[in-house]
Amino acid sequence: MSNEQTFIAVKPDGVQRGLIGPIITRFEQRGYKLAAIKLITPSKEHLEKHYADLSDKPFFKGLITYMGSGPVCAMVWEGRDVVKTGRVILGATNPLASQPGTIRGDYAIDVGRNVCHGSDAVESAKKEIALWFKPEELVSYKQAQHDWIY
Ligand code: TYD
Repeated sequence: MSNEQTFIAVKPDGVQRGLIGPIITRFEQRGYKLAAIKLITPSKEHLEKHYADLSDKPFFKGLITYMGSGPVCAMVWEGRDVVKTGRVILGATNPLASQPGTIRGDYAIDVGRNVCHGSDAVESAKKEIALWFKPEELVSYKQAQHDWIY
């Protein structure tokens, strides 16, 4: 499916550093459409579900503590191939390996404080959107009457 949705989050360090705006701008300017947005300080239980696949990793406990340390800006972005392209916009997981021009490549140096999250596949995007948002929080709208805006 090419016209799809992804879950993007500005992590607590990104919110505290004032990076919500720049991160939204990158997705908007690329041509993607914001379908949902909210600020939420996620509970430990919520984050353990979100990161369930990583529960055996040595960094899991620290990751959960960091992600629950303050508000996260949770978003759903929509558009052609947005899951894959969203990951490109974010940059590599480890900011030291991220290209300049990506969010992590421009704003971060520490893998444990890497500013943003993006779903890694269409199926995980569906699960993450369902975990973070109620169906009625997603807004469906037409951006413009022109086919170059998706
Ligand atoms: P992961 O799902 O592998 O990466 P991504 O967020 O790019 O999908 O890991 C989830 C988060 O865990 C990652 O964004 C940052 C943190 N993390 C660490 O703190 N240390 C590590 O060595 C790794 C691989 C990830």
